Amino acid sequence: MSNATLKKIGVLTSGGDSPGMNTAVRAVVRACAYYQIKCVGIKMGYEGLIQNQMSELGARSVKHIINRGGTFLQTARSDEFRTKEGREKAYKHLKSNGLDALIVIGGDGSFTGANVFFKEFGIPFIGIPGTIDNDIFGTDFTIGYDTALNTVIEAIDRIRDSATSHNRIFFVEVMGRDAGFIALNSGIASGAQDILIPEKKDSLEGLFQSLEKSEQAGKNSSIIVVAEGEELGNAFELAKATEMRFPDYDVRVTVLGHIQRGGNPTCMDRVLASRLGVAGVEGLLEGRTNVMAGLRSNKVVYTPIEEAIKKHNEIDKELIKVAKILAV
Ligand code: F6P
Repeated sequence: MSNATLKKIGVLTSGGDSPGMNTAVRAVVRACAYYQIKCVGIKMGYEGLIQNQMSELGARSVKHIINRGGTFLQTARSDEFRTKEGREKAYKHLKSNGLDALIVIGGDGSFTGANVFFKEFGIPFIGIPGTIDNDIFGTDFTIGYDTALNTVIEAIDRIRDSATSHNRIFFVEVMGRDAGFIALNSGIASGAQDILIPEKKDSLEGLFQSLEKSEQAGKNSSIIVVAEGEELGNAFELAKATEMRFPDYDVRVTVLGHIQRGGNPTCMDRVLASRLGVAGVEGLLEGRTNVMAGLRSNKVVYTPIEEAIKKHNEIDKELIKVAKILAV
């Protein structure tokens, strides 16, 4: 397959920002320059298509952004693009700007939008997974996840200093609306006593037993990492329940929030974003559409977008076991 008619593509970032999105845009723009295709940067995700906010980007227009967090194209969750009228406006501007295809950097919500757009107007597109949550099927890692993990463990290392100095229990809430990848991996890497994630059935009794075990084992402080999407409750609710059960414990809560979304991308995220940006452009040139470029076992693979949207990455049970063993 090849697509010799591909002359001009648009690139946008959509949904929540993630560190490495800039690196991915740079890779798309430079790969276009390399293959002599025109590249247009669309501002604010699908909003920029609807409002006709886009401009041509050459290799030099993406200089000095490889290391910058956020996305210089900016991003949005567009309500208007969810409507037929909104998508019609987007199509009109896409055509008036001569765009033949799109590269969408974002999460499953952004891919769903692109897929609907394709079905209505036949605009080829390739998705690139950009989210800190790592919850997209078809890639071992999403762009931004590694940076977020490193931000989280740096924060928890600091919290540990205070926890041990005061003999305290800390509940640290990390992002992951529907997924526990950040919590599980950062929890292991920061030596958490317990890790609460939506993918496993947790109970208050189990948490209390773990805290009692920790005390009996001679620990004078504990860190409990809680994923934002944990069904048992948020960090404040869990801390409250713990204080009621153990009135002698000194309990504190830290919600890391959007700190996790910012900062310079790590080397791993930069390399991932660079590879997937190039793969996005090459995929379109090969005539692929409705696929997501991802990395599996360190190889670039293209996954049908509907699979990427519908299927879910499974949490590795071995990691849950490791966390449990090491909390002895
Ligand atoms: O980027 C994904 C995510 O971090 C989720 O884990 C979180 O729930 C959500 O974004 C919050 O995003 P926003 O503040 O942009 O609504």
